[in-house]
Amino acid sequence: MLVSALKFGHQLLAEVIVSGDTVVDATVGNGYDTLFLAKLVGKQGKVIGFDIQPQAIEITKQKLLEQHLSCQTRLYLKGHEKIQDVLTNEERIKGAVFNLGYLPKGDKQIITQGKTTITALSTLMDHLEKGGRIVMVIYYGHPGGEQEKETVLDFVKAIPQEEFNVLNYQFINQKNSPPILICIEKKLRKNNP
Ligand SMILES: C[S@@+](CC[C@H](N)C(=O)[O-])C[C@H]1O[C@@H](n2cnc3c(N)ncnc32)[C@H](O)[C@@H]1O
Repeated sequence: MLVSALKFGHQLLAEVIVSGDTVVDATVGNGYDTLFLAKLVGKQGKVIGFDIQPQAIEITKQKLLEQHLSCQTRLYLKGHEKIQDVLTNEERIKGAVFNLGYLPKGDKQIITQGKTTITALSTLMDHLEKGGRIVMVIYYGHPGGEQEKETVLDFVKAIPQEEFNVLNYQFINQKNSPPILICIEKKLRKNNP
């Protein structure tokens, strides 16, 4: 059976991330993706997480503690557009995840924004290892969501195909703004244009 956008995103990450890798959760929220990544990279790896809401960071820290996954995780109360301040120039990441929209059960006015999402995405693409993948689930049914969706889709459609594969996965016969999954994979070898 075809799986949800969220589940398919996890499958795409699980195919490439191995123990010891460094990965990024660009929108920590309730920690669902952070925990998933922390299990994949194991104690030898590193998950770097960002959120602008203290509540998201606190909830996730607690969950990580309960599941003994804290030691491989660094959480920052910071916008993902500041990723460059946290990663060193040489640091390479094998994967990253974004869930765009608002924090479920949180303040629906605090949403991700197209401009800062693209700043973060560009930085992560620069740091992505060959064969690495960035997965983004776009929710857009809320006020401001449609605008962010268009900004992000315009950006990812223009990513050069010589260096990256870009995938779009969505159930197009579902009601109520079905989420869109985008996966950006850095090619192992750069093709000639
Ligand atoms: C859809 S939720 C993420 C859900 C999360 N992945 C989970 O597993 O629960 C989006 C999150 O992005 C956060 N956010 C909004 N703008 C941000 C920014 N500039 N940098 C980092 N996080 C941001 C929100 O605070 C919210 O928690």
